[in-house]
Amino acid sequence: MVRIAAVGDVHAQRGAAPTFKADFANINARADILAIAGDLTAHGLAEEAEVLVDILKGVNIPIVAVLGNHDYHQRQQEEIKRVLKSSGILALDGETAVVEAGGFNVGFIGTKGFGGGFGMGALPDFGEEIFRMMYREGVNEANKIRRGLETIKADFRVVLLHYSPIKETLHGEPPEVYAFLGASIMAEPINRLGADLIIHGHSHYGTEKGTTSGGIPVRNVAISTMGRPYTVYPLGG
Ligand SMILES: [Fe+2]
Ligand SMILES: [Fe+2]
Repeated sequence: MVRIAAVGDVHAQRGAAPTFKADFANINARADILAIAGDLTAHGLAEEAEVLVDILKGVNIPIVAVLGNHDYHQRQQEEIKRVLKSSGILALDGETAVVEAGGFNVGFIGTKGFGGGFGMGALPDFGEEIFRMMYREGVNEANKIRRGLETIKADFRVVLLHYSPIKETLHGEPPEVYAFLGASIMAEPINRLGADLIIHGHSHYGTEKGTTSGGIPVRNVAISTMGRPYTVYPLGG
């Protein structure tokens, strides 16, 4: 068994106490890998990424992270990634990483993902160029997931996202904002190619547990949705 601890939407910032405090005390004994599902920072500042790194300084297990929409807000996403990588965090932006932990190889495909909506209500590739650009951004993110799942060779495969690939884990949010919280286009390659676990954040007032139409477990790990600093999901137990 390998234990994946996960949290998202920590929204680190200097000098402010968040409503749900990130707390990783004892995580080294409770989990084998920590996965962080984006919105690492409150305002997208590289100095806020340094605050997060400071919060994580006692964590000795491997850390895998993706960025969220907040981390793009000041166009400092490359600097944020550099801050994470220089402290040993595997910051994935469409890349894969295989982590050896608990006697297993765990393969991650990590990417931010994008919105666009779900099923019949999803954004079509039609009309004004700006909407078609949004559609293509969703396709690009889905392709990153597909390529990752096609290449990973590991005992377990985890898809780490910020945006949600299903509606179910958004329940609790106003339905009007679902299209800004995720896109079903991302679930297609995962259902087709398979995965053991999908982790996402971004939905602060959603539902923790869901399943894709292909039966793959999805976990919304936004810290305010979970109401705890992190959750441990065992694989292969
Ligand atoms: Fe967030
Ligand atoms: Fe977000």
